[in-house]
Amino acid sequence: MSSSPLPFDPTQFPRIGIVSSFDELVTARLEGGVNALCWPRVLDGDFGEVERSLPAIDGITTLDEEDLGGLNLNPAGQRAREHLINDQRLLTARGLQPSLDIVPSGEPDLGDSPVRTDVADWHVDSATVKADTYLCTYFGEATEGVLNEDTLGQVHVPGTRAKLLQLYGGADDANFRSYLAEHFYDLHYAANSEARIYSFGIGHLWRIATQYPGSPVPPCIHRAPTTGSDQTRRLLLIS
Ligand SMILES: [Fe+2]
Repeated sequence: MSSSPLPFDPTQFPRIGIVSSFDELVTARLEGGVNALCWPRVLDGDFGEVERSLPAIDGITTLDEEDLGGLNLNPAGQRAREHLINDQRLLTARGLQPSLDIVPSGEPDLGDSPVRTDVADWHVDSATVKADTYLCTYFGEATEGVLNEDTLGQVHVPGTRAKLLQLYGGADDANFRSYLAEHFYDLHYAANSEARIYSFGIGHLWRIATQYPGSPVPPCIHRAPTTGSDQTRRLLLIS
């Protein structure tokens, strides 16, 4: 493993902290406005071979060590598999619950709600207690982030709030705010046309701030990439 060019210009994204080891990634504090930590890595191995070796799937499918172990891979694919397994073990040893997912390509089902609530829309992760999200894209299109300053909560966009209120069918009061939270509308954001967007890149391991009571920093706003059905499936670690 070696250091790599970052997939973003760190001087443009003051909310991202760069760390140089797994230990630092886990122990560094998210404070001073920094709500994302990136451990840049170049992982050797052929992750594409792992992806191609996996069976057809209908939806997001979690892989365990047994699934990976059963794949018949060339040496480069075997190296990639070692990284996949090693990352799982690193996070598990820290008491985390990582999941290695294969994510099918294709447009998300947008439905007809005034606010999207899928992961390919700008959103924050939320928790009831202190918690962070760990993320790594090994193969396929990478996750993206956007600076909080360049966004507005969807429920604060006047036209959108009016539509949500209509859908709710009541007054703009505490019960309405509960309704927004129950439907996850309050976790989604609109990015302005000049928004500064960054890529999480491939192979880099990230730790990002979630929304939880008492968090010292605003949550990291991020989204899964939208992939056409002709694009490859994604290999993604999430914890
Ligand atoms: Fe998320």
